[in-house]
Amino acid sequence: MSDTSPLRGLQLRSLIRAEGELELSLVEVETPEPGPDEVVLRIEASPINPSDIGLLFGAADMDSATAVQIEGQPGLRMTVPERGLRAMAARIGMAIPCGNEGAGTVVRAGSSPAAQALLGRRVAGIGGGGMYAQYRCLRLDQCLPLHDGATAEEGASCFVNPLTALGMVETMKLEGHRALVHTAAASNLGQMLNRICLKDGIELVNIVRKPEQADLLRAQGAKHVCCTASPSFLAELTDALAATGATIAFDAIGGGKLAGQILGCMEAAISRTATEFSRYGSNVMKQVYIYGGLDLSPTEITRSFGMCWGVGGWLLFPFLNRVGPAVTAALKQRVADELLTTFGSHYARRIPLAGMVDPAEVAVYALRATGTKFLVEPASP
Ligand SMILES: NC(=O)c1ccc[n+]([C@@H]2O[C@H](COP(=O)([O-])OP(=O)(O)OC[C@H]3O[C@@H](n4cnc5c(N)ncnc54)[C@H](OP(=O)(O)O)[C@@H]3O)[C@@H](O)[C@H]2O)c1
Repeated sequence: MSDTSPLRGLQLRSLIRAEGELELSLVEVETPEPGPDEVVLRIEASPINPSDIGLLFGAADMDSATAVQIEGQPGLRMTVPERGLRAMAARIGMAIPCGNEGAGTVVRAGSSPAAQALLGRRVAGIGGGGMYAQYRCLRLDQCLPLHDGATAEEGASCFVNPLTALGMVETMKLEGHRALVHTAAASNLGQMLNRICLKDGIELVNIVRKPEQADLLRAQGAKHVCCTASPSFLAELTDALAATGATIAFDAIGGGKLAGQILGCMEAAISRTATEFSRYGSNVMKQVYIYGGLDLSPTEITRSFGMCWGVGGWLLFPFLNRVGPAVTAALKQRVADELLTTFGSHYARRIPLAGMVDPAEVAVYALRATGTKFLVEPASP
């Protein structure tokens, strides 16, 4: 007979108090029993992505991290400066379960045949929070069964970065562009996008901020890499845009002048082949989507590129809603099929759940630096 006693496990939560304090705590919670089309995952691996870091720490002062004990479990406290507290108003007083995705083994399954078929299987899951936990109840449509023999580590980053990188290519096609620009391009996601574009024959202009990041991407086959640290960055970017015809960019940085500079260089590249002058600029649509907030300062746009342009936000889930379930399923299938090649993720360090509240670990993983992605292993002691 199957075990029906409640499953209890630790879950990581982030709370900001009105007094200006952020607390990360490990709370023991009872896992809900799965409904007919749900399963309970024992989470074995979950990545720490930049979007998780944003939710975990909000506007807290990272230098103030202090280890504490909360209800017998290790925890962390930080101060949140007055200015940051105002920006965090919507989440004050809420203990938010964190962690967007991960992989593990199905230990309980609902009554439907589809749920029962997953019992004992290793699956990847997207939780929309609550994946930094020992157990998590998920709907079937939040799960991706992994191929036999796949490890939890291999499946941990199946959703967020792979589907976002694929979503950029789909958006490019949907909106009538033929080549892409990507910023912070040496990121885990950027390296994935580079592999997709090489495989699919799509021209990609990679923008990075350090020469070693340019070397890394070139060693992985990237043809066009421009470094913002170069004194001739704008000229090099314009050349790459003229060579590729890229008129859509995905910008992970958000703050500062880069988004506007990309639009300006796109217009300059287009005007190289213009046959007549128009005071309104070219009639070629130029688009920058800001899809990350690596720099939270204001986006500064100096308009020097006519009137045919757009700057907007881009988020994975609205994109998946836009393309619908059939395209989403096809994209997920491609991720599962190319999990160890195109969509492989690499981790600098593996830590248990308690490591997430260790100030020494936080000091490294919260940096979001190239090649320092951490993997949380909640099933490990
Ligand atoms: N909108 C969506 O739906 C969605 C979905 C998935 C991911 N994302 C975004 O995708 C981005 C990449 O994620 P990831 O997991 O691949 O990141 P990652 O592997 O942790 O890499 C982060 C990269 O950003 C660079 N970086 C950090 N701060 C920067 C700054 N201020 N200016 C320029 N570069 C900076 C780092 O370079 P250094 O080594 O030089 O610091 C590093 O190369 C993140 O912004 C994430 O939020 C968005």
